[in-house]
Amino acid sequence: VQRARLVLGNWKMHGTLADNAALLAALRQGAGNHCEMGVCVPFPYLAQAESLLKGSTISWGAQDISVHEKGAYTGEVAGAMLRDFGCRWALAGHSERRAMHGESDQLVADKARAALAVGLTPVVCVGETLEEREGGNTLGVIERQLEPVLALGADALARLVLAYEPVWAIGTGRTATPEQAQEVHGAIRVALRGLGVPQVRILYGGSVKAANAATLFAMPDIDGALVGGASLVADEFLRIAAV
Ligand code: G3H
Repeated sequence: VQRARLVLGNWKMHGTLADNAALLAALRQGAGNHCEMGVCVPFPYLAQAESLLKGSTISWGAQDISVHEKGAYTGEVAGAMLRDFGCRWALAGHSERRAMHGESDQLVADKARAALAVGLTPVVCVGETLEEREGGNTLGVIERQLEPVLALGADALARLVLAYEPVWAIGTGRTATPEQAQEVHGAIRVALRGLGVPQVRILYGGSVKAANAATLFAMPDIDGALVGGASLVADEFLRIAAV
């Protein structure tokens, strides 16, 4: 099955109106010979991303989404609101949200469902901690995290993107080796194939840079990257997307 490469940036809690304007202009300007590409920006900057990226080949999205449609949920942002700002993507279950905001595996799957319900593409993140890896539990953790997501069923899975991000590789400069990443991506692919959806894209995330992207992308089940720090530097991010 042919899977188009996808490179997404996750700005996390970075940016100012001025910095973003420069970054987005540089991305727009540099966009040419690259794969499908998008940026997930902080909520307040979605309007800016829409106005500066509209009509370009670069899509944009949010870093989180509420499971609720609307109502008394102070501080939450609904999928329909993201759609109002032209979003294509919504991250769900980034490890920072799982760890710092107590997001459960089920909640993450519910967020993916909420995104799909309004026509957004959820990017569901999974990944083990260093302790879990060293305890030999990597694949067990990924399986547990994915269980409620896989339970959404083939129709839903066919419309989402997965991201494998080993927690120990995020923001640490310590990338998983291509072989370590492929081992997990391959195991996920087996599960997807079993459900009849081998075409689901699986991104790798964790200290991806222009210097290591090509070897990661050369692995058979790595379909692109979810890029944190390096997505804040236009030239670096463009080089990753041009591999
Ligand atoms: O969502 C992105 C990941 O957390 C990776 O972040 O590229 O800064 O390691 P990083």
